[in-house]
Amino acid sequence: MPGLFIAFEGGEGAGKTTQSLLLAERLAELQTPHLLVREPGGTELGEYLREYLKSERPLSPEAELLLFEAARVELVSCQIVPALEAGQVVIADRFFGSTIAYQGYGRGLDLQIIDSLNRFAAGSATPDLTILLDLSPEAGIRRAMAFQTSFSQDASGGLAPLERNEEGTRFEDLDLDFHNRARAGFKELAEAQQETWVMIDALGSIESVQDEIWSRTRERLYPEEKAARARPRAPTNPVPQGELWPQAT
Ligand code: TMP
Repeated sequence: MPGLFIAFEGGEGAGKTTQSLLLAERLAELQTPHLLVREPGGTELGEYLREYLKSERPLSPEAELLLFEAARVELVSCQIVPALEAGQVVIADRFFGSTIAYQGYGRGLDLQIIDSLNRFAAGSATPDLTILLDLSPEAGIRRAMAFQTSFSQDASGGLAPLERNEEGTRFEDLDLDFHNRARAGFKELAEAQQETWVMIDALGSIESVQDEIWSRTRERLYPEEKAARARPRAPTNPVPQGELWPQAT
């Protein structure tokens, strides 16, 4: 597909929402057409399921998995694929890496089943770049409960700020072992797919993390810049005839 698909992943409080909003702002300044979505959410069904999934209401791990995938199918078909086909940059605040980490490594559900459901739900919409913001669960959950804001999204993609404490805390409330398993899962994914995943230490300042994210995004947005940097360049000072640098023909 002609667009560029960037997903943010990581545990609670790692700064995905803050960083994805900042990246979207930067693209807006550059007048680069883009779409910011979050998972679960971004469609009428997705937002409805998000509310249930984040609440503390009863839910088996298997049903939880299927609800995340149902929200994903809607988001991919109604928002992500049309935006990518139109050549836009899609930024997703979580995508299928979260299902592998949380429902697979965290809840202990079968990784092969999760992988097939992910493929079924996402189809050809696979992130070109996944940015993993890595942080210890102790630090992340403290941050998530204390400072972070979230955003709500209507079916047409409109965003509105939302205080995190307006949402339920099904996952924040799980024990540290769960979050450590999920973190290990994210790291394994990043290590196994180094071509498309980058891991960034989320303890850095908001600005330094954003700079790193922008440099990785830029490489994907403007690959010709990277190729030009990699090519040996002729010296800027005129080279006297007979020097070693080959002359242009
Ligand atoms: P967040 O958008 O505030 O991060 O909340 C989404 C929560 O849902 C978060 O705790 C991670 C969890 N989640 C999963 O467990 N599996 C998934 O596939 C996704 C997308 C999110």
